[in-house]
Amino acid sequence: MPLGYDLPLGYDLIVQQLIPGYASLARLAVALLAASPRASSSGAAVLVAGCGTGAELVEARAQRPDWQLTAIDPSAEMLAASQQRLGVESISWRQTTVEDLNADGCFAGALSVLVLQSLPDDGSKLAFLTALARSLEHGGQLVLVDLMAPERSTLQSQVEAAWMGFQRASGLNADPHDLAPLTQGLHPIGEARLTALVNAAGFGDPARIFQALGYEGFLLQRRP
Ligand SMILES: C[S@@+](CC[C@H](N)C(=O)[O-])C[C@H]1O[C@@H](n2cnc3c(N)ncnc32)[C@H](O)[C@@H]1O
Repeated sequence: MPLGYDLPLGYDLIVQQLIPGYASLARLAVALLAASPRASSSGAAVLVAGCGTGAELVEARAQRPDWQLTAIDPSAEMLAASQQRLGVESISWRQTTVEDLNADGCFAGALSVLVLQSLPDDGSKLAFLTALARSLEHGGQLVLVDLMAPERSTLQSQVEAAWMGFQRASGLNADPHDLAPLTQGLHPIGEARLTALVNAAGFGDPARIFQALGYEGFLLQRRP
C-alpha cells in the first residue's frame, strides 16, 4: 500500500476521520473474539491478518494479554509501524499475505479488519477467505470487518452524503491523493456475494455484528 502520510500516527488519525466507527472497531472485534468458544480459552492462538499499524493488536494486548498473537502483513512499512507501536517481543510477526501463511488449523480465532475490501472478486477474495478458514481450528471464529457494497439502493445517496458529512465533521482535510490507499481501488461486495464466498471458503453463514454506514462487521465460524 503506497502511503502519503507518516506511519503510524498519520494513518491512525486519517482512518478515524474517514471510517465511521473505526475508533471502536478493534475494541469490538477483540471483545467478540474473546467471547468465542475457542478463543476464550486461556493462551489461545489468535491471528491478526493485515495488522496494518497495529490497532487490533493494541486492543488484543489490552483485553487478552494471555493470547498468543501472530501478526501478519505483506507491507514491510505497515509491519514496521506496528512493531514500533507494540515492540517486537511477545508477538509472532510475519511479513506475508494470509494466502502464503501456510498455518493450517493453527489458530483458535482470527481478525481481519479492512483487508478483504482491497482484493478483487476474481478469485482473490475466495483465496484469501479460504486461507483464513484453513488457518483456523474447526469451530474457530473469524471477525471480518469491511466496506460493503450497498444492497438498498434507495438509501444509497443518503448514505454517501452522510459519509461525506461524517468526514467533514471529523475535520478530515487530507489531500485526496493521500487517501487513495483507503478510498480508491476497493472492491466491496454485497452480503449475498459475501455469504456465497465464505460458504465456499469453509465458513458457515456470516452473522452481522456491526454496521456504520457502509462498514460492516461479521462473525464467521469455520465449519466443524
Ligand atoms: C486498510 S489496512 C487495515 C489495517 C488494520 N487492520 C486497520 O484496521 O487499521 C489493510 C492492510 O491489509 C494488508 N493486506 C493486504 N492484502 C493482504 C493479504 N492478502 N493478507 C494479509 N494482509 C493483507 C495491507 O498491507 C494493509 O496493511
